[in-house]
Amino acid sequence: MDEVQEWVQRFDLKVERLHTHIGSGSDPQIWQRVASLSMDLVKKFPGAKSLNLGGGYKIGRMSHEKTTDLQQVGQPVKQAFEKLAHETGRRLHLEIEPGTWLLGNACCVLSTARDIVSTGPDGYQFIKSDTGMTEILRPSLYAAQHPISVISRSGETHTSQYVVVGHCCESGDLLTPDAQDSEKLAPRELIRAFPGDLLVIDGAGAYCASMSAKNYNSFPEAPEILLKADGSHRLIRRRQTLEQILENEIPA
Ligand SMILES: Cc1ncc(COP(=O)(O)O)c(C=O)c1O
Repeated sequence: MDEVQEWVQRFDLKVERLHTHIGSGSDPQIWQRVASLSMDLVKKFPGAKSLNLGGGYKIGRMSHEKTTDLQQVGQPVKQAFEKLAHETGRRLHLEIEPGTWLLGNACCVLSTARDIVSTGPDGYQFIKSDTGMTEILRPSLYAAQHPISVISRSGETHTSQYVVVGHCCESGDLLTPDAQDSEKLAPRELIRAFPGDLLVIDGAGAYCASMSAKNYNSFPEAPEILLKADGSHRLIRRRQTLEQILENEIPA
């Protein structure tokens, strides 16, 4: 920071905004500490008018995971802003980028069970879905846990243990990994599934469509549908066509 201040002086720069981002999904306590450290930086730049604290507010996708209470973690930040105003007269503007917090749990991936395979009494029952890394890479990449439910077409109510896998030709295309190890299979208790049943994968509003293995094996990008508050729905992204997948290829 000393070096930054030296550059600011040397090149006669105006620092109007400070921006920090700790990383997505961090603990509220860590976020609060970073907010406080960021406030210390603000004091070193008397001309700064706003402090942007980035994003990264943890959300719970699974029922046992906690969502950051913004009111709660915001209290000490509010107090720090008020203290600064009281001590120096500076009314600092706060900016945040709570993308995941707003959208993470607002979306789901709707897929279909293509096949159910059992590897015997010492093995597993697999549901092979027609989605996977192509729409939702988080489980494979860092063992993220997403709620999954089976919508049974036959009204099935019994449950069974399943490992849910995607449609890519990769052993890592796993939708139910162990939370500690993305390569370990962790069966889930789900409504008994049959080919053609729907699978709802929740918590898919952040780092899913935007972070997926697009066009793996030329699977087209999935369509996206907006469900409105009045229950009606609207297509907001069309399914990609084969022509669109190929359009940037240059034949030799
Ligand atoms: C500067 C910045 N702001 C915001 C975000 C996204 O935060 P969130 O995951 O809370 O949407 C990122 C993601 O890494 C980021 O780098």
